[in-house]
Amino acid sequence: TDAAPGFPQPTEHTQKAYSPTDNFTSRWTRADAKQLKAMSDPDAGSRENSMPTEYTMPTVSQDFPDMSNEKVWVWDTWPLIDENANQYSVNGQEIIFSLVADRKLGFDERHQYARIGYFYRPAGIPADERPEDGGWTYGGQVFDEGVTGKIFEDQSFTHQTQWSGSARVSKNGEIKLFFTDVAFYRDKDGQDVKPYDSRIALSVGHVHSNKKGVKLTGFNKVKELLQADGKNYQNAAQNSYYNFRDPFTFVDPAHPGETYMVFEGNSAMDRDDAKCTAEDLGYREGETNGETVEQVNNSGATYQIGNVGLARAKNKALTEWEFLPPILSANCVTDQTERPQIYMQDGKYYLFTISHRSTFATGIDGPEGVYGFVGNGIRSDYQPLNRGSGLALGSPTNLNFAAGTPFAPDYNQHPGQFQAYSHYVMPGGLVQSFIDTIGTKDNFVRGGTLGPTVKLNIKGDSATVDYNYGDNGLGGWADIPANRELKNSKAV
Ligand code: FRU
Ligand code: FRU
Repeated sequence: TDAAPGFPQPTEHTQKAYSPTDNFTSRWTRADAKQLKAMSDPDAGSRENSMPTEYTMPTVSQDFPDMSNEKVWVWDTWPLIDENANQYSVNGQEIIFSLVADRKLGFDERHQYARIGYFYRPAGIPADERPEDGGWTYGGQVFDEGVTGKIFEDQSFTHQTQWSGSARVSKNGEIKLFFTDVAFYRDKDGQDVKPYDSRIALSVGHVHSNKKGVKLTGFNKVKELLQADGKNYQNAAQNSYYNFRDPFTFVDPAHPGETYMVFEGNSAMDRDDAKCTAEDLGYREGETNGETVEQVNNSGATYQIGNVGLARAKNKALTEWEFLPPILSANCVTDQTERPQIYMQDGKYYLFTISHRSTFATGIDGPEGVYGFVGNGIRSDYQPLNRGSGLALGSPTNLNFAAGTPFAPDYNQHPGQFQAYSHYVMPGGLVQSFIDTIGTKDNFVRGGTLGPTVKLNIKGDSATVDYNYGDNGLGGWADIPANRELKNSKAV
């Protein structure tokens, strides 16, 4: 394939599978990520989308319903799953977990105050017969105050918060809630007096579900599972803004009896002397639109060194874990490869992860969205989806103009640029995400609730928006349907 004029060719990736324990990390290279800008229309005018429509979520309207009836801000959300990512209803109720925060806080203050809450709704009702807001009932917070702070040796934290994870249900109604347990140590001006502390943790409880509603019990202990090691995963000593979070567990038919976890990490280099290599750049031999390693390393791009981590359980109870090398690095590409998940289809392994426009490195640009990679195993030489770029589904964005922020969008930006984030890919290619901001600089509203579910047609190394799904591609608001039923008298 020919590269777009002025742009490099993407890196060649074989999709070859390696053993999960091998020391091989696939690279989302700069040559790959440059394909994002390469497919952006340089003539797209003010407030137009510059990205291909087949990879862009249709524009969401400002008059969205709020799924919590103004009770809480809602953002990152995950379903109740089994080891193969099937989504369950329990005794007739669908159940989801969300990060929630008090609506008295500004939406941008949410990260330091996040709590895991849950919602439920009756199962088996088609999306178009449900109430417009998805029909969820807010069940409250999973943990009592104080429970998740106990794992920190230094109890002088000023903010103790619960970040994203995933939830596994067993036949008897036991739930293993994997999440990110975080402590901040700040002064009265909000400055860190010591780096924040982010750990991957597990709490085990039980679901009680019947026609009347859903209750969760037993989430009163937390077991710490993993702390960033500084060898494969950057720690606070190397970078006080390290990213280490968002556990997602699964099994792999190629390795029966093992349970794995993917999570967000950073490459384990010191922030101030991180270096990217020729392999991280990934330019082909003879590339005329490339860059030198020196140029890139002097550009500030070395502050963006995200990776997707892999860990393996050491026991059946999933309470002991060991690190394996990362399965993907995005050195000098992006700093955040958040909420990674493994999605299996047609014998292929898809790695999905979300990234912000603002976390791309110098010289790389792309929309807020979910990025995807395909290979022949959980550890493989992953091929970035869609023209080698990695973009699976982006929010409508104009890469010819600056982004601004969710609280002050750039004047020329498309009203949808911050309409969706924290996408989670569900069985059948359905994708749910939350609304951050919708509208232009002079007229925007903040979200804090789930947006409309969309559907991706995933095949080989491409993923495209299914415009036949829902209303021109937009399905029900906050539609997270179960594809499996669990009926058990122990879970009443
Ligand atoms: C931007 C962000 C999130 C991250 C948080 C850390 O909103 O970088 O992606 O979870 O802030 O405070
Ligand atoms: C994604 C994210 C996650 C993190 C959470 C914190 O939106 O940044 O990576 O767990 O939000 O609020």
